[in-house]
Amino acid sequence: MKSFQRTLVTAALPYANGPVHIGHLAGVYVPADIYVRYLRLKGEPVLYVGGSDEHGVPVTIRARKEGITTQQVVDRYHQIIKDSFEGFGISFDVYSRTTSKTHHKLASDFFRHLYDNNKFVEQTSEQFYDPETQEFLTDRNIRGECPRCHAAGAYGDQCEKCGATLSPDELINPYNAINGNALTKKETKHWYLPLDQYQQWLEEWILQEHKEWRPNVYGQCKSWLDSGLRPRAVTRDLDWGIPVPVEGAEGKVLYVWFDAPIGYISNTKELCDAKPELGPWETWWKDPSTRLLHFIGKDNIVFHCIVFPTMLKAEGSYILPDNVPSNEFLNLEGDKISTSRNWAVWLNEYLVDFPGKQDVLRYVLTANAPETKDNDFTWADFQARNNNELVAIYGNFINRALVLTKKYFDGKVPAAGQFNEYDQATIAEFQNVKAEVEKLLNDFRFRDAQKEAMNLARIGNKYLADTEPWKVAKTDMERTATILHLSLQIAANLSIAFEPFLPFSSAKLRDMLNMKELKWEELGNINLLQESQELGEVTLLFEKIEDATIQTQLDRLAAIKAANEEAEKQEALKNWKPEAIKEATTFDDFCKMDIRVATVLDCQPVKKSDRLLQFRLDDGMGERTILSGIAQSYPDPSVLVGKQILFMANFPPRKMMGIESQGMILSAVDADGKLVVTTVTSPVKNGSQVG
Ligand code: MF3
Ligand code: ZN
Repeated sequence: MKSFQRTLVTAALPYANGPVHIGHLAGVYVPADIYVRYLRLKGEPVLYVGGSDEHGVPVTIRARKEGITTQQVVDRYHQIIKDSFEGFGISFDVYSRTTSKTHHKLASDFFRHLYDNNKFVEQTSEQFYDPETQEFLTDRNIRGECPRCHAAGAYGDQCEKCGATLSPDELINPYNAINGNALTKKETKHWYLPLDQYQQWLEEWILQEHKEWRPNVYGQCKSWLDSGLRPRAVTRDLDWGIPVPVEGAEGKVLYVWFDAPIGYISNTKELCDAKPELGPWETWWKDPSTRLLHFIGKDNIVFHCIVFPTMLKAEGSYILPDNVPSNEFLNLEGDKISTSRNWAVWLNEYLVDFPGKQDVLRYVLTANAPETKDNDFTWADFQARNNNELVAIYGNFINRALVLTKKYFDGKVPAAGQFNEYDQATIAEFQNVKAEVEKLLNDFRFRDAQKEAMNLARIGNKYLADTEPWKVAKTDMERTATILHLSLQIAANLSIAFEPFLPFSSAKLRDMLNMKELKWEELGNINLLQESQELGEVTLLFEKIEDATIQTQLDRLAAIKAANEEAEKQEALKNWKPEAIKEATTFDDFCKMDIRVATVLDCQPVKKSDRLLQFRLDDGMGERTILSGIAQSYPDPSVLVGKQILFMANFPPRKMMGIESQGMILSAVDADGKLVVTTVTSPVKNGSQVG
């Protein structure tokens, strides 16, 4: 085990193309925040570095969508994101942005240094080009016909219709997604980071030396390495980003994934330049006694474990990450969180809807953290964890201990008498919480660590329930004093144990206890509060969340889902094309089908089926019953009564839901999947043949 003197924690720089949501918080910012708060409480030197990722194609797409400039987009979202993090107590030492001067210079110098030392491979290739706007296009901005399913409007990297992964070269008739222009090819030069040259070193460094990384992280790295690394372009033809600092590279910028991680370095530099007491920034990035940790989501693993370390290694003077605790994804009510589909709980909106309840969300997201597998956030779980855990256990214990002290001891910490056996057992039980929480936090197991802190509250709650000081007070004030003394000491311990997880509540609790000092080392100490020390004002630590509040959120999500479904339907209608004509058939085969006309006498939904309608028909020979799976398209089937319709008469009878169906109703399928029953253009005798 290496010993380190300081820790540098980075959290993935969010794209400034939209606000941040619960997925960001759960996956990256809360776990990192818990960890740095813990280290600070222990008095260890640590920096928590963050910032907005303001380059790349996503922000330019957002700008086009909103009809504003790219600069306006990043200015807007940088501010919203920064405020959201502050609102949730994400305690960055610095939160800057990749459009800053410091960053542009540092990233540019970093590139130039690698360039001067021949660390890149130069390669010229043909890329798609719009002759009118005179620009090269990125994969996402190229559309065309899908070579697999022939859907229109497939993207240069993927067909959304059939899901195929594509390269722009495969598209049929590619065009510029923004203006529809036809594209030509033009030669362009780019610089590549030759990852293949670092393959062996990476295998040793990750697969041999970092077996302790989380299995999901290690596994992803292994699978990248096993399939063999290839050179990666680190420049792009784009007009938004950091210009490539090489002569003849006009119109080219650094690839966003090249500059963004360097943002961690630039932001550290900005911080250290402003606060000389932190020492030079190089100490944090170049001294091997610094421990570097990257907190990220799983879609960032390859960049932080393979690409960025290779850049640092190629540069030569930097340290490498010691660990990369990456989480899996958080879903929302069973569906993947999506910024473009507005399927998210936005942090800026939560802060407005739930003022003062930042810790509730922090608690729920940690309790449900997607540490080893994808997890689901539901509003029902949010409510249950608040009401049954925060309110009923932690809050209830604190409230009882404080209110009883106010009542019986004038709000002053009473003196303890002799601890009896039960008191001793309780003390013994919570004294190992510290070691347990530490072990879990050191392993980045935040969910279990928080559970352990909650156990301490459980111990306190149980102690009060078992000792019943409100009853003892009727006969024995000395014993009552001992019970409340110990309870208040446990409460003081809770404010320490929960500080990394629920900082707002811990501060509130410290105010109520009139507690000044806060040190991790004191956790487990039962003399944190002095006898006759005066308590502060007592308020509720947590409040119950009512059903109506939850319903409002569920209604909001339901409205979004409906709007998305409608939008998808419109999109499908817009892109609809008739199915390709089936294989040729024969006149004889056609003649085998006996299609006839009948009048609908009655049409009813089949009980217990949401799909089937039961038709009673006059087919000219008598009555006939046919079942048809078109109920979704006819919410009011009575509209069909009296109509003449077409049906297949020589289908073998078939039983469904206990009813025999004698044929098949012929319906047309509309673009949105709706079924429409076919008819004749003027009345004919029932039983007439169609052919
Ligand atoms: N903006 C990227 C994303 O949201 C993360 C960038 S992390 C950094 O996926 F290392 F590049 F900064
Ligand atoms: Zn396709």
